[in-house]
Amino acid sequence: MNMNIMNVDYSTKIPNNVNLGEDRQVLKALEGWHPGYIDWWNDMGPEGFQQSLVYLRTAYSVDPRGWAKFDYVKMPDYRWGILLAPQEENRVIPFGEHYGEPAWQEVPGEHRAMLRRLIVIQGDTEPASVEQQRHLGKTAPSLYDMRNLFQVNVEEGRHLWAMVYLLQKYFGRDGREEADELLRRRSGDEDSPRMLGAFNEKTPDWLSFFMFTYFTDRDGKMQLHSLAQSGFDPLSRTCRFMLTEEAHHMFVGETGITRVVQRTCDAMREAGIDDPTDIAKVRALGVIDLPTIQKKLHLHYSLSLDLFGSEVSTNAANAFNAGIKGRYHETQIQDDHRLQNDTYPVLKLVDGEIKRVDEPALTALNMRLRDDYTQDCVKGLLRWNKVISTAGYDFKLSLPNVAFHRAIGEFKDVHATPDGLLIDDATWARRRDEWLPSSADGEFIASLMTPVTEPGQFASWISAPKVGIDNRPGDFEYVKIES
Ligand SMILES: [Fe+2]
Ligand SMILES: [Fe+2]
Repeated sequence: MNMNIMNVDYSTKIPNNVNLGEDRQVLKALEGWHPGYIDWWNDMGPEGFQQSLVYLRTAYSVDPRGWAKFDYVKMPDYRWGILLAPQEENRVIPFGEHYGEPAWQEVPGEHRAMLRRLIVIQGDTEPASVEQQRHLGKTAPSLYDMRNLFQVNVEEGRHLWAMVYLLQKYFGRDGREEADELLRRRSGDEDSPRMLGAFNEKTPDWLSFFMFTYFTDRDGKMQLHSLAQSGFDPLSRTCRFMLTEEAHHMFVGETGITRVVQRTCDAMREAGIDDPTDIAKVRALGVIDLPTIQKKLHLHYSLSLDLFGSEVSTNAANAFNAGIKGRYHETQIQDDHRLQNDTYPVLKLVDGEIKRVDEPALTALNMRLRDDYTQDCVKGLLRWNKVISTAGYDFKLSLPNVAFHRAIGEFKDVHATPDGLLIDDATWARRRDEWLPSSADGEFIASLMTPVTEPGQFASWISAPKVGIDNRPGDFEYVKIES
């Protein structure tokens, strides 16, 4: 039977396009996992709005031309489903030692452990961000923003389902154990934290949320792109569909920061402020000054760089050789896709200086992906800086040097300024607050985080979006708050 993969089957408890109705064992495993997931969502999901009606999109198809429908739904009733992009006919493994062989439809035994670990790491980030963002609904600057937060949250929940499906379908008993562990770890928990650093940090305010969705979700995008190249076809197809949803998360981040910058510039102009670095004067207007936005950017970019791991990594080389994790846009790269004899320039610390050193391309794959990431990040900066220059201000937001504020890789044991000047511990301690958000900065931002729940109204520190979600008018009631 040639089932229509484009459309999603909603007749089972778990919506899916993987024919779960005829895959009783996996359906049973997923149904067994479902109550624990709902408990987790109720405990760790958005706080205070579980009974509110939220205008959310739900996937009903995996056809890129039209895959979502919008409607009011209470979040615990959201239909989290298992959705894979359509299988590509005769797909081959696009890189590594198995280059050109047919893609695997089952787990290759020799690479089983590595594959499972990569799926678990990806899976762990999804619920982590929901946990990090769970308090933010209460201080949303508008119903529009609140709705976007919840949309991101339910989709991260779905991404967890996506990884759990792979674990339960393809990894038997230990897959089921890993699926349970994904519900047990908690972001920031002392005893059982989430697996990666940035996912144990706090997301204390909405500027952090926008920075997180811009910079950290973009790390997710790069990882998903690399896994979408995987020779293990079910993983590839899963990640390809996740990327469709992920685009909105980064849209929320990019436009969120744009709107903050816009509001700050508008307020400064109205008040006749010429110097954007006159922080006290700008803050008195109830907007976030540009230097503080820059500090937040420093923080989130550097935390996100750490997610790429060590610049030189044999794990990365092994995953590539094995055909498990490829490069960004692997199939569009013009080379032999094996990289046995190639080199790649890596930034390293050599005799106390930051230098480019040619390393074997295979072990430098994390560095390469990180470079692709940085290039991708720059686009937003250009837009934000355009807002600032159009408003007539001589101020530029910029990405800090890779050596700045790092906990992983070549630069973890040194201190550097955002310009990449190496400095000693004492200088770092003395000047840290010039470059990263201080507790006073945090308090100021927190003081602005008063909720605005009137349809069409926005908090003082952020401008209205240019268009509504699903083309809804400006005063649309995106969340019907249940008090
Ligand atoms: Fe995600
Ligand atoms: Fe995301």
